[in-house]
Amino acid sequence: MCGIIGFTGQTEAAPILLEGLRRLEYRGYDSSGVVIGNGTKLTMRKKAGRIAELTKHLAASPAPGTCGISHTRWATHGPATDANAHPHFDTDGNVAVVHNGVIENYMALKQTMQEAGTEFRSDTDTEVLAHLIGRYYQDDLLSAVKAALAHVKGTYGIAVVCRREPGVIVGARLGSPLVIGIGPDGHYLASDANALAGYATQVVYLNDRQICQLDAESWVIRNQDLDTVDSPLQDIGQFLGIGDAELNGYPHFMLKEIYEQPETIANAMRGRLDDGDATAHFGGLNLDIKQLRSIDRVLMTACGTSYHAGMVGEYLFEELARMPVEVEYASELRYRNPPIDRHTIVLAITQSGETADTLAALRESKRMGHTTLAICNVVGSSIAREAEGGVYLHAGPEIGVASTKAFTSQSVTLAMLALYFGRMRHLSHAQGTEIIRELRRLPEVVRETLRCHDRVKEIARKYAHASSMLFLGRQYLYPVALEGALKLKEISYLHAEGYPAAEMKHGPIALVDADTPSVFLVPRGNVFDKVMSNMQEIKARGGPVIAVCSPNDRDVASLADDVIPVPDVPEYLQPIVVSIPLQLLAYEIALVRGCDVDKPRNLAKSVTVE
Ligand code: F6R
Repeated sequence: MCGIIGFTGQTEAAPILLEGLRRLEYRGYDSSGVVIGNGTKLTMRKKAGRIAELTKHLAASPAPGTCGISHTRWATHGPATDANAHPHFDTDGNVAVVHNGVIENYMALKQTMQEAGTEFRSDTDTEVLAHLIGRYYQDDLLSAVKAALAHVKGTYGIAVVCRREPGVIVGARLGSPLVIGIGPDGHYLASDANALAGYATQVVYLNDRQICQLDAESWVIRNQDLDTVDSPLQDIGQFLGIGDAELNGYPHFMLKEIYEQPETIANAMRGRLDDGDATAHFGGLNLDIKQLRSIDRVLMTACGTSYHAGMVGEYLFEELARMPVEVEYASELRYRNPPIDRHTIVLAITQSGETADTLAALRESKRMGHTTLAICNVVGSSIAREAEGGVYLHAGPEIGVASTKAFTSQSVTLAMLALYFGRMRHLSHAQGTEIIRELRRLPEVVRETLRCHDRVKEIARKYAHASSMLFLGRQYLYPVALEGALKLKEISYLHAEGYPAAEMKHGPIALVDADTPSVFLVPRGNVFDKVMSNMQEIKARGGPVIAVCSPNDRDVASLADDVIPVPDVPEYLQPIVVSIPLQLLAYEIALVRGCDVDKPRNLAKSVTVE
């Protein structure tokens, strides 16, 4: 979603801001802009469309100076136009603001200001903030920002510059991340540490309701009373290496990340499997054994792909730990009032750690007194910091908008957690040892699974222009069917539905015709025969069938039009293996259809608004 990068230092700001914006491109956006200060002059340049448009505009009309702020906007209030792109000025052009988040009471504020004669140049909620700060400005930007924010309801991560305070950037956050970067050439303010790799050596995160001020030589973070806050500096190397956010020879981040999975799965397990006790260990759960034993129910909450991983977790916890699990969309949970008892833990699952609904659901659960844990990829993200304990995925930055490696790392982490809770309850040492053995094989099995790529490419060419696709699986593979359909929709714009295979008789089977292929997830397992019957039902109605199945499965091959064999693993690990050909299928179909895989239309990597 929207991204912010600001710089104040010894060198020209424009190239740094443009490079920072490029690194934030993956979050999804539809316009971008910069404002750069040179002495007491602020020069603004902004453009709808890709950052390439802004780069061209800046080449033709440069914005010199060593202090500036910039933004990628994902339209919420008003269409993606030059006028709606950030930054926004106040009436006098004294103050310029970029903003992530949503000002919920902007209509009321705007109306009051319009009645007092203020003219607005955009449809955005952000412009209200610029005018408010402008009104409060006397001789101190930080105080003006603080005073303006007191009127605002909603969420924000903002960066502000002022013509009368050259070299100064003020930032503030409430519900939308901001991080200060400290580097040899100056100071940075960004919404995502990814933008700072190679520039900053250390970072420091702002917490909600904090406000910061930076110039070329110094930085400070203050609380609501404007007292200085001591905030821990962290080495940026802890978060990512420069190469992590680059393509390293792959045509797209999505493909790079699909191929990283043998390694990312190994990273999720590194140091966590304990052969002696036949269990898993997690350093960050922050719960003692008594608390852990008292947990008798898990409420998982997440959005999108992470929600599908939560559904896999539900099957895993039921089978391996015999624990009841409920999985709830975070956007629903946050407004529900479910009767959760004291022995329920709330587990938020999130790649970015910044998804607005997941963060809100976590906060609401905490407020109600529940123990909250998180499975999260981005170190230092809001959810990672606010959950009482949790497990990092260590999957490295996921830049492709379509989540791939995070899903498999989340699934393997949930398998380890289920093993851990299972061993505290009914799983025997021998059963634990067997599960560990299977987990250890996974990176190699996934490497072998990736060899299906050429086969998947052929299948993609054959079906890329289908009118719609069904993804069907049962039990552990039902969430994978949902995930396969989501992947295809989001990057190829081909309509797809995921269903529990037997459920399609209750309606969706009406869609089946020669133009509507069904992808059956049918490796050998408990429900194999049942899924085969469901496949017969589709074939009987003339629907083409693509089957992801066990190696050399003649029964499947005799019925399906196309098969994608994947290595055999126990059913509780099938979601990981089976999701890989589905990721590749979505990728290859998107390519045939000429779609921009890493920047799908309308989507954002990190959904920081409700
Ligand atoms: C789909 C996708 C999204 C995210 C969802 C949650 O490919 O990426 O559905 O899974 O927005 O994001 P996180 O996991 O960052 O909370």
